[in-house]
Amino acid sequence: MSSSIHFTHAITRRPAPSITAGLRAVDTGTPDLALMQAHHDAYVATLRETGATVVELSALDAYPDSVFVEDTALCLPEGAVIMRPGAPSRLGEAAEMAPHLRALYGQVVGITGQESFIEGGDILVTEREILVGRSARTNAAGIAELTALVAPWGHTVREVHTPPGVLHFKTDCSLLDVDTILSTKRLSASGCFAGYTVIDVADGEEAAANTIRFNDLVLLPEGFPRTRDAIAAAGFSVREIGNSECAKLDGGMSCLSLRFTPRA
Ligand code: GLY
Repeated sequence: MSSSIHFTHAITRRPAPSITAGLRAVDTGTPDLALMQAHHDAYVATLRETGATVVELSALDAYPDSVFVEDTALCLPEGAVIMRPGAPSRLGEAAEMAPHLRALYGQVVGITGQESFIEGGDILVTEREILVGRSARTNAAGIAELTALVAPWGHTVREVHTPPGVLHFKTDCSLLDVDTILSTKRLSASGCFAGYTVIDVADGEEAAANTIRFNDLVLLPEGFPRTRDAIAAAGFSVREIGNSECAKLDGGMSCLSLRFTPRA
């Protein structure tokens, strides 16, 4: 089993009423909580359909963006690393996640430097390396700390760059299988995926780049038919999930879960 695409567990968190105050680069309207919850329910049901255990945490109204749990931790087979989100309103979310990971993992460590910032959305774990995109939320000190923390577990980190104006590295890319990455052209053109097979999202469908491969399924945001068809034509089983409300907050498929297989 490949640890970068096969998982026994996921953690999600229900969206809170305060989601209307969530961070966004551009205001495209107020997210509808009921519709977001319906999309979230479909997302969780799809993860469970693959046989995984999904821990659904209760909503945290004190943190409007807390539905986007991916930013709080990096989960590897050997242990979990608690992040230090670069958005001040999100910093406290990481401590809220820590006890849930300690319940499942023998080893939980954390980014602690006061000048270190790193969010899970900037981290793409492949079978051979961990790519971390420097961004407005993730800095060199955060990447250096992560590199030192995961080295004893046998993981190497490669620093790359999130395109300017893009929230997170994984806003623009996803792992489809151990050798295949779905990417926007603006990101793949940087050359950071040399050595991988790259499928570019269709022009005008850049928001489709944030998908997840979870066991036998690829979860893709609804509304990107040309990219859906390209992924299906490459042999993947695709599920479309409504994402209109999370998209108003720059959120996508990966942001909504932590996915992992803790090593016994
Ligand atoms: N709204 C998600 C984020 O900005 O972190």
